[in-house]
Amino acid sequence: MTDVKQKAIEAFEKQFGAKPEMLSYAPGRVNLIGEHTDYNDGFVMPCAIKFGTAMAARKNGTDKIRVLAVDVNGDFDEFPASADMVKHESKTWSNYLRGVTKLICERGCKVGGLDVAIAGDVPLGAGLSSSASLEVAFGNLLSNAFGLNIELQDIALIGQAAEAYIGCKCGIMDQTISACGKKGCAMRLDCRSLEKLQVKVPEGLEVLIVNSNVKHALVGGEYNERREQCEKAAQVLGVKALRDATMEMLDARKSELDDVTYRRARHVITEDDRVLAAVKAFESGDLSKLAELMYASHCSMRDDFEITIPEIDGLVEIMRKAIGENAAVRMTGGGFGGSVVAVVEPAKIEKVKAAIDAEYEKISGRKATIIETYAADGASFTVL
Ligand code: GLA
Repeated sequence: MTDVKQKAIEAFEKQFGAKPEMLSYAPGRVNLIGEHTDYNDGFVMPCAIKFGTAMAARKNGTDKIRVLAVDVNGDFDEFPASADMVKHESKTWSNYLRGVTKLICERGCKVGGLDVAIAGDVPLGAGLSSSASLEVAFGNLLSNAFGLNIELQDIALIGQAAEAYIGCKCGIMDQTISACGKKGCAMRLDCRSLEKLQVKVPEGLEVLIVNSNVKHALVGGEYNERREQCEKAAQVLGVKALRDATMEMLDARKSELDDVTYRRARHVITEDDRVLAAVKAFESGDLSKLAELMYASHCSMRDDFEITIPEIDGLVEIMRKAIGENAAVRMTGGGFGGSVVAVVEPAKIEKVKAAIDAEYEKISGRKATIIETYAADGASFTVL
């Protein structure tokens, strides 16, 4: 059993004075390529990571859900097990749970009282989807605890709606990979049809995540603004979503778009193509092609979508230099801080670590955290 699962069980016993009856778990994710394409009905290629959120729980026979968040300084919250819900004014972590509960109840499902202890090891604000793992683990917990039989993809959709309830109009990538990830595989997800293709991580390559430790916050703000710019571009091009547009179509209408909107659309349109090409490169183990695509993705996020920050750009360059040939490196996640992802040969990892240790603090005034991960399984539920 992983540390977080054990931690959730122990915290449950301490808080509620009884043994938990069930355990729910969902991982965070790292996106290998396909950034800000999901809400444009496009393609993404994430994998689940070895960190996640664990929930130990037991029905309490009341009409209240009581939750302990071990890793939010042992914070506690209590809310009704019904759709009759309001947001907590300060506990953001709990609002994800309140949102999930409300949305499940609004589907006509009946849930009851539950005691829950939560422990998680997805670094917060690192672009690794700690919130999606929280939503998915909780949605799957309610579904199993109360016999609702909600499919994992639907749990993911509920999680996405919970984000909107809180204020971030995100896409469906994070929750889907957290719910439906497969060990050893990245997922090519078509964010329109929700069709999934599991793509094996090539033999002899490892996924490396480097957290810049510049925290990002996606609730509202820049993220929703990017989404609006994409929707505006799609409207001008006369398509349902940018997924349906090509560079030829965009260039034909260039004069009708301001420069910013044009560049936002160019990122999304070219990024979709890069995802599909990256899937092929993954399938054939072509690291050189993957490197070209991942770095092109980074440059497009930096120059066209404008979601990187100097610390992240600097980190990417430090890593590229250390890896040398075939450097498959890019920022991952929503942007404005967070993490960098690399697909590397294990033999190169020590050199990359040494370069980051020697150079990152000089450009950013802080240390980075290096995480070697494997592609992990998605959500799970166990009766204890
Ligand atoms: C966040 C959102 C996702 C996706 C990424 C950017 O993680 O939650 O839906 O849009 O940003 O690719």
